[in-house]
Amino acid sequence: MDVSEERHIAAMVEQIVKEVMHARARKKTPLIVGNWKMNMTVEKAVHFFESLDLKNEKNDVVVCPPYPLLYPINIAMQQLEAKVQLGAQNMHWEDHGAHTGEVSVQMLREVGCQYVIIGHSERRIAGESNEVIQKKVKQALANGLYPIICVGESSDEFKQGRTKRVIKQQIEAALKDVKESSSIIIAYEPVWAIGTGKSATPEQAEAVHQFIRQILHDLYGQSSATIPILYGGSVNGDNAGNLAEKDNIDGVLVGGASLEASSFQSIIRSFNKEMSNA
Ligand code: PGA
Repeated sequence: MDVSEERHIAAMVEQIVKEVMHARARKKTPLIVGNWKMNMTVEKAVHFFESLDLKNEKNDVVVCPPYPLLYPINIAMQQLEAKVQLGAQNMHWEDHGAHTGEVSVQMLREVGCQYVIIGHSERRIAGESNEVIQKKVKQALANGLYPIICVGESSDEFKQGRTKRVIKQQIEAALKDVKESSSIIIAYEPVWAIGTGKSATPEQAEAVHQFIRQILHDLYGQSSATIPILYGGSVNGDNAGNLAEKDNIDGVLVGGASLEASSFQSIIRSFNKEMSNA
């Protein structure tokens, strides 16, 4: 073996080690996000936090309540010392102005938000375009919020075998002109799985997550390995464990099952268990 071959092999080994380290680092802190949609009251939320036992949990846990509940819930979480972070379900892309019914990123920060869901399919169905989603992603990043960017194919697109094409288009549009990848979070949520009780199988989800990982790699190179890719769509205490076992499922975005402390807790535990086995 000559020197150049040796160098080539050494470089390959170094690359493999780097990738394994990145994969392990990624596995370290799963992210569990509850999307409460248009549900909950302050009273129910206080009860929820009192019932949730996160003392020994190592995951990052986030809840996204409706706007009017953000401030009181932030106060309640501080008083109860809940180890939970706060996110919003949407925001406007401008700093301020004549936008009746809208909320700015600064307002979200003032009430304690660190995350914001952007481009949820329920908002896309209500008319939110890829262009608007991209502006919101840029605005969130520019102001220090983690955007949880939702992508996913409809039932028809799934049946027509167009999943990958749709996902690629949605991700590339949302991340157009976004140079910095360190605060991005992607949530793959097949529309046919949301609120239907019909979750994607762990294998189906992992295949799409691997594809998303490749798209992110093409956009951002090696640093993209640490971007969390969450799965969402009928996640519950029964299926979370099998999803958590998959290499590229870094956490979950949970709707219905995040409204009860017991089911949310068991989802969080599933990811914790998987992390300690890794
Ligand atoms: P689901 O909702 O868990 O109730 O299916 C998920 C979501 O819409 O984020």
